[in-house]
Amino acid sequence: MSTETIKVKAGDLKPGMGVKSVVRFSSEFSYLDKGTINFLKGMFKDAHVVVKQKDGKHTIPIVGLKLGDHLTAVVNIPSSLRLDSLDEETVGVLRKKGCEEFLITASSLPAPEPVAAAVIGGGDAKIRARRVAETNTFLEKIGLAAEGRSEAAAGVEEMFNQGRSGKPSNKPAMEAVEEILKNDTSTAMVAVAGLKASDQTYTHCVDMSTIFHDACLGILSDGVKTLPEKLSRSTLAAGFMHDIGKSQVPKEILESTKRFAVDSREMLLMRKHVGFGAKILSDAGMDKAMINVAHYHHVKKDTSLPSSYPDVDYSQVMPMTRLAAVVDVYQALIGKRSYKKNWVPGKAVEFLSSLKGTEFDGAMLDHFLNAIGKYPVGSLVRLSTGDLAFVTSIQGQDLDSPVVAVVENAAGEMLRSHLLIDLMIETDISITEVVDHYEHYSANEDQAFQIFSSLNVV
Ligand SMILES: [Fe+2]
Ligand SMILES: [Fe+2]
Repeated sequence: MSTETIKVKAGDLKPGMGVKSVVRFSSEFSYLDKGTINFLKGMFKDAHVVVKQKDGKHTIPIVGLKLGDHLTAVVNIPSSLRLDSLDEETVGVLRKKGCEEFLITASSLPAPEPVAAAVIGGGDAKIRARRVAETNTFLEKIGLAAEGRSEAAAGVEEMFNQGRSGKPSNKPAMEAVEEILKNDTSTAMVAVAGLKASDQTYTHCVDMSTIFHDACLGILSDGVKTLPEKLSRSTLAAGFMHDIGKSQVPKEILESTKRFAVDSREMLLMRKHVGFGAKILSDAGMDKAMINVAHYHHVKKDTSLPSSYPDVDYSQVMPMTRLAAVVDVYQALIGKRSYKKNWVPGKAVEFLSSLKGTEFDGAMLDHFLNAIGKYPVGSLVRLSTGDLAFVTSIQGQDLDSPVVAVVENAAGEMLRSHLLIDLMIETDISITEVVDHYEHYSANEDQAFQIFSSLNVV
């Protein structure tokens, strides 16, 4: 083992370091009193000390220390004292007692922290500081958003159960809507929807709702990033209730993990949810737009497609419903389905782009893709530097250049602090691919979510 040593000041001493010698002390050690001698004999038992006397420096066993000696170093510290791997408490004692400088075995020094290959150029320090502050504000909401999502899904389930028992009520959904508005968690919930897999029915309605809301926000707010509260409330509610008619479909069909054939009895019954939903909402006196969403969100632009229902002219489908249709399919792609793998948002966006003109209203699809981004927030992406990063926000109209936080360097080392890069400013760096976070982080289904929600951006 290498015996190379490095000089370290008390302030830089860390647990795990191995002390070979103490080479500088505070002034109390230049004329030793009884208490200090006892401390030295206890802490450095069987070591040697270097003392300064009239005729020069002498190295003597520590037991030979006398009152009034001038101590300059403690050397030959035996490994049996366990100072070759300090614990937190010993670090504190050494500092407190006035040991000021140490020789540390080089092999015990902690490995340098892995760094990202991405190098930040000049940029504007103020913009950078603002991006970090905005990102932290957003990240603080992720935990709350994940909780809110689970609670809202339980509310949707309750709403469905009430519907099954013949007493449909929108109360649980409206309570969830108010909670989202109060906590301002819609955008954070959209990120959670992309990071955490979901169930087929209840969470689908919650994710559909927040994605739909944020898509409307992106389309209508013109970059202002707020919607009039009434509109916020109605878009969220429309999302929550678009599948309310499924409460009239037998639970064993609704929650089945089987994929039913297009002409099967089960599928025909399932398809009736749109008519059931429209009736429930019109009976409850809901507004026309919300009823239209529930009734026509499965109508395709090409109404002759086998997946299009009910049979109605496309002109009957309101613009808001045409957007809801895009969001519904997007959520189905990123949500968990037992009969197919769930897609990460960046891949789902690529796929949706290919369906333009047949399934969806082209203009609405474009609006949606602009709002959600080419790399939706929460996407894991590879950068041209080789580093791996999470998308944390989309700024402006340049969808190729979101703000990202680097989580892993090109060597595959996980980073402890995550460099924030605004790709609109750092134009030398670009995204080269979308990485499937379920495949990349496979320790458990929630690993990507856990990493994202504990990002430490700098
Ligand atoms: Fe539906
Ligand atoms: Fe749906």
